[in-house]
Amino acid sequence: MSDKKPVFKPNKEFAKNANIKNMCEYHDLQDKAMEDYEGFWGDFAKEKIDWIEPFDKVLDESKAPFVKWFDGGKLNVSSQCIDRHLDTRKNKAAIIFEGDRGDVQTITYLDLYKHVNRFANLLKEDFNVKKGDRVVIYMPMIPEAAYAMLACARIGAIHSIVFGGFSSEALRDRIEDAEAKVVITADGAFRKEKPYMLKPVVDAALTGKTPVKKVVVVQRNHEDVEWVAGRDYSYNEMIEQKSSICEPEVMDAEDPLFLLYTSGSTGKPKGVQHNSAGYILWAQMTMEWVFDVKENDTYWCTADVGWITGHTYIVYGPLAMGATTVMFEGVITFPDAGRPWSMVENHRINQFYTAPTAIRVLHKMGENEPAKYDMSSLKVLGTVGEPIDPPAWKWYYEEVGQSKCAIVDTYWQTETGGHVVSPLPGATPIKPGCATFPLPGIMAEILDPATGEKVEVGEKGYMCITKPWPAQIRGVWGDEERYVKSYFGDVKKDGKPVYFTGDGAVYDEEGYITITGRTDDVINVSGHRMGTAEVEAAIKKHDNVAEVAVVGKPHPIKGEGIFAYIVLKSDDGIADEVEEVKAINSIIKKEIGNIALCDEMVFTPGLPKTRSGKIMRRILRAIAKGEEITQDISTLEDPSIVEKIAAMVK
Ligand code: WTA
Repeated sequence: MSDKKPVFKPNKEFAKNANIKNMCEYHDLQDKAMEDYEGFWGDFAKEKIDWIEPFDKVLDESKAPFVKWFDGGKLNVSSQCIDRHLDTRKNKAAIIFEGDRGDVQTITYLDLYKHVNRFANLLKEDFNVKKGDRVVIYMPMIPEAAYAMLACARIGAIHSIVFGGFSSEALRDRIEDAEAKVVITADGAFRKEKPYMLKPVVDAALTGKTPVKKVVVVQRNHEDVEWVAGRDYSYNEMIEQKSSICEPEVMDAEDPLFLLYTSGSTGKPKGVQHNSAGYILWAQMTMEWVFDVKENDTYWCTADVGWITGHTYIVYGPLAMGATTVMFEGVITFPDAGRPWSMVENHRINQFYTAPTAIRVLHKMGENEPAKYDMSSLKVLGTVGEPIDPPAWKWYYEEVGQSKCAIVDTYWQTETGGHVVSPLPGATPIKPGCATFPLPGIMAEILDPATGEKVEVGEKGYMCITKPWPAQIRGVWGDEERYVKSYFGDVKKDGKPVYFTGDGAVYDEEGYITITGRTDDVINVSGHRMGTAEVEAAIKKHDNVAEVAVVGKPHPIKGEGIFAYIVLKSDDGIADEVEEVKAINSIIKKEIGNIALCDEMVFTPGLPKTRSGKIMRRILRAIAKGEEITQDISTLEDPSIVEKIAAMVK
């Protein structure tokens, strides 16, 4: 397969002052990592982290895949993000918050220090939160979400953020799995100038037996909400009385920092665990390398703090490096699709980071909007979450970036903690839709799962990382075996299990990496990972559903949409298909949330299964896409079903 993608060289002016200025510098760094892996990481760890006590050992692989980085080292991640900047940056904006209705708040590093310490004292003194306790954060995009994260880090509590779009059932599952004792939430927030509510979802999640003893409620929209006496407390009323001094807890390099639940190909979402030193080191280094943020820059990532992108690239990474990070409460297309560009103009944003799905929406709804604003401050544009398609890339490059900004197509995952394959804006000649090369220090390779050898040019293989890296997942909360099985079970290199991302990828003639998408049953809806098993489990809760199979189908805006094949127990429901669809969608909404609603449902008489009962999803994916069925279907229990289903989908 020859790849004739056009190549765009880095902007020369930009490259002059970039942290990594050319490919020679990139190769020097990568060579150094290959020659002396521990030396490479050890030097950066010493340079970048404000250690309370130095580490003794860079990497301990003796119990691989359970690894330890910087063992013996002591630090506090909140100090790394705040305290160490106070001497030089106390009056610098740490967070610029823009509310849905255009309200702006600038929070300096000194302000942040006080807010976080007060919040930390509140958690410690009033709710008895101690090192190692789990705290669930269910928050809108307001600065208090960042304060809450950093307050947990300050006292050594492990936060687990649940995205505000998840339902009460999904929230309950995550609370229970982590055995959280405190939930931090808000009454609600604003979306499209209207208040919406979050607290009722928390109330519903805490009915019955729950490990949660206390709920802290930030009052953002001041709507009436229920208060449970002895359980619910107002942040706004309590916070002012708290001291703005809170000694940071001395944490081991490998003490857990947070959990973040994400979907896998089977079973319930897993609590991906990240630990302190390795995670914060890589969050900071990738901010410096990939976004090339300079002292006076203003950086904006449009993600939600409920996802890993929000963790690493709204809060931890930017603050660890002492940058100014923009936080946005609202919807990027409100009041119109020029909103992000008006924000670029107003805040003079230098780096802008978003997802392809957002770019497609902005392109579709506001093709000519960028031209209406002063976009000259922009230097680096980023994308994340899914492969970016050529039309979206072109518009982003030409109209948003005015053909002078590098687009960093950052490939990474919840489990990798930070970017792993990405262009460097001052060095890498970029190609549309291409994540390019592994970052220095990351031994990412596309391997053939059968042989463990690197694949040939143009041959599809498995995207793997063959050496541990500091920000890698440390475990699946409460399930050691699942950690090993999920990530180290599929590919071996030189007989040794290596980390497999779950994604397929391909090299072109020049060694550029293009990610081709998941190889497992995970769907990527608007850049969000959705396990087909989870959606299926929700649909099965409907009384009249006998069987269901969910697959992804290409979608012009979302990247992938959710397509469900449903076999009903009785045919009665089919007479009223509309009602059935409604009922099923309302179950999905209750069990998971709106983000998992099906784009299409077909009620079929059966599903294509092998004689051993395995559903052949590959066939269902092909039917959903309207492709010819080329696979051998003779091994199916009932080959005729394929034709029947295909006829219904057409
Ligand atoms: C996909 C998001 C292509 C991939 C940070 C991965 C991408 C999953 C890219 C992780 C990219 C992420 N190009 N695909 N630049 N970035 N992905 O855990 O399938 O929500 O495994 O982390 O998104 O999703 P997650």
